[in-house]
Amino acid sequence: MRNFIISIRGGRPLAGSVAVAGAKNAALPELAAVCLASEELELANVPQVEDIRVMVAALRALGAEGQGDGALREGLEGHAVRLAMPRLRTPLVAPEIARTTRASVLLLGPMLARCGEARVSTPGGCPIGERKIDFHLLGLERMGAEIRAEGEYLVARCRRLRGIDFTFPGKTVTGTENLLMAAALAEGTTVLRNCACEPEVGDLAALLAAMGADIEADGEETWVVRGRPALRGARHRVIPDRIEAGTYLIAGCFAGNDVRVEGVEPAHLGSLLEVLDGMGADVEAGGGAFHARGGRALRPAAVVTEPYPGFPTDLQAQLTTLLTQADGVSRVRETIFNDRFRHVAELNRLGAAIEVRGDEALVRGGTRLRGAVLRTTDLRASAALVLGGLAAAGETRIENAYQLFRGYEDMPAKLQALGAEIEILEE
Ligand code: EPZ
Repeated sequence: MRNFIISIRGGRPLAGSVAVAGAKNAALPELAAVCLASEELELANVPQVEDIRVMVAALRALGAEGQGDGALREGLEGHAVRLAMPRLRTPLVAPEIARTTRASVLLLGPMLARCGEARVSTPGGCPIGERKIDFHLLGLERMGAEIRAEGEYLVARCRRLRGIDFTFPGKTVTGTENLLMAAALAEGTTVLRNCACEPEVGDLAALLAAMGADIEADGEETWVVRGRPALRGARHRVIPDRIEAGTYLIAGCFAGNDVRVEGVEPAHLGSLLEVLDGMGADVEAGGGAFHARGGRALRPAAVVTEPYPGFPTDLQAQLTTLLTQADGVSRVRETIFNDRFRHVAELNRLGAAIEVRGDEALVRGGTRLRGAVLRTTDLRASAALVLGGLAAAGETRIENAYQLFRGYEDMPAKLQALGAEIEILEE
């Protein structure tokens, strides 16, 4: 993957409208669902980001075929992906794929359900902390899979998955998604309890139902799935990306900015709206859009990241950047991942005054930010540093910026359209 430097000349007001793309974290499990049927899935509103391209490449290596192969070189034709898996050519997920994105773990359940075998590289660690998958494996083993480590691979086999009544030991988004997909083709009925409630899980369930799965929610955190012998193709539109929407909404709250975020699902960002409202930010929601105007004095906040519908960990870094501009000391507690404050040292290089104590960051507000050379480590930290660079006086250069392109479609272009002076340089 080529690497980039993003150069920003900050302190310029952002004004105008930005349209939100489809949700990366819905499209990833929905692409994995291609393995569940031999007929074609057509997914609309798929974001053109690196993680999606990697997942499409993984599916094609497994045997997925697109209509008019040439047009699907990248698997993305505009924002629609049309893929079918007539048969799984190999049960091996290419190791370079699994090293690139942890989302490759989402292929485990569907491959086991479809052909009884899967070989996936154990997902690498990642810059936001330990990313365990023991809940995924526990559920799949309870469904009858034999899973063992063979070198760098996890090898999973089973004759046929059978339905279980399973309670997740802890909330896991991709764990819930893996087992929903496995259950769709399992023998008998599966009840999954203590499931993650993120909107992306519900969107996957809607796709599975469209594919003919017998799946229904039983309250907020329980799904009942009656296994079917086979699923069919379907067409589905991916929901808007609430994390991208929240990132631009936060951008609009910085002094001097006036940003409309279009094509959003306001209900998916209730916890962010609550925090911004508590800070006294000038934010309106309605008609599938948000409107944020900076300039008001912002009150500090006390935020704890939690599973949905709590405050999303994926917006923690971006909000922390805004809190450097509030009048007073804010507290940000990260309870989902154990190492998700790597953006703090970089923000402090811009002039922020943030102190990390264990799982909490104390953010002293009212700090004037000045451009600096920064280095980013992960996708959402990259977005936080971009927001910092936009607010800082002078030039900010962000190295290792390919991370941004893993999950944000055309962010530099979208920000330029809002008036930002931002350019991409090859590293
Ligand atoms: C999903 O990751 C998202 N990724 C993440 O977004 C998001 O931050 C995360 O959910 C939390 O909302 C995708 O959907 C592709 P988890 P996931 O399993 O499923 C522990 C982004 O920036 N855990 O919900 O990997 C785990 O260690 C990415 O778009 C176990 O202990 O997260 C973590 O502390 C970053 N055992 C916590 O649970 C398990 O088997 C939440 O993990 C699984 C998880």
